[in-house]
Parts: sequence; C-alpha cells; structure tokens
Amino acid sequence: MTDQHVHDHQHLLDEARLAAQATYSPYSSFPVGAALLTAEGDVVRGCNVENISYGLTNCAERSALFSALSQGALPRTFKAMAVYAPKVPLISPCGACRQVLLELMAPDAVIVCQGSDPAATRTWTLDQLLPGAFNAF
Ligand code: THU
Repeated sequence: MTDQHVHDHQHLLDEARLAAQATYSPYSSFPVGAALLTAEGDVVRGCNVENISYGLTNCAERSALFSALSQGALPRTFKAMAVYAPKVPLISPCGACRQVLLELMAPDAVIVCQGSDPAATRTWTLDQLLPGAFNAF
C-alpha cells in the first residue's frame, strides 16, 4: 500500500475508529469498527454487536453493509470499507464477512484494515480476500 493510499483512506479509517466506540462486545472485549464509503461519497459506520448466544454475533463489516442497504444504498455500489480494531496489530475480515463483502460491494472495491500498529495497515481487494469465491455475479 502506498503512502497516497494511506492519505486517501485516512478519513475512512478515522470513521472506522469512531465506529469502534459504539461496539457491543462484552463477551470478547474485542471492539471493531467499520466505515463504508458509498457511491455518493457518504460514510456509513458499523460496529460488532455480540450476544450471549455467541453465534448470533454480527461483525462490524456486516453491520456497516447491512446498515447502508437498510438506508437505501444499492448493492455493488460501495467503493471502499475501512476496518479498525485496536486489540491486534492488524485486523483482517473473517471468512463469513469476506463472502458478504464480495456480494454487496463494487467489484473493484478495496478494504483498508488497521489495528494498533499503523505501520502495518493493509489494503486488500475483494479478489485477494476471497480468491476463487462462490460468486453470484
Ligand atoms: N469481529 C469483527 O467485528 N470483525 C472482524 O473482522 C473480526 C471479528 C468481531 C466479532 C466478535 O464480536 C469479536 O470481533 C471477536 O471475534
């Protein structure tokens, strides 16, 4: 990832950091925030929301996507998502979220991920995150 990309995505990462403050994660104590950039340039935030029945947990990435669609955004129009998690040096989306990201984001969308070590920040394409995916398109 180039410095230019870091600069371009800094605002989105800042939004993801703010999104993490809304986390409901009493079971894992692992806050995660996501910020989704829409085709119109709006930012929609999401955080992880846990449940005492642990399997019902919703990751920050899916929270942001589902929130954006619920607000009327169209699938496959999202240009970028930033993900922030302070408890690891670098966060990487889980397998379930990768499948959902692939279906709902624009084909050329990028995912910018940051943890506690800003120098470790990475940007991945959807194809890099889920090569050879089961794809509806
Ligand atoms: N989590 C996310 O929200 N996004 C990720 O990319 C990885 C994991 C959440 C799920 C759970 O609430 C907590 O982090 C620990 O796994």
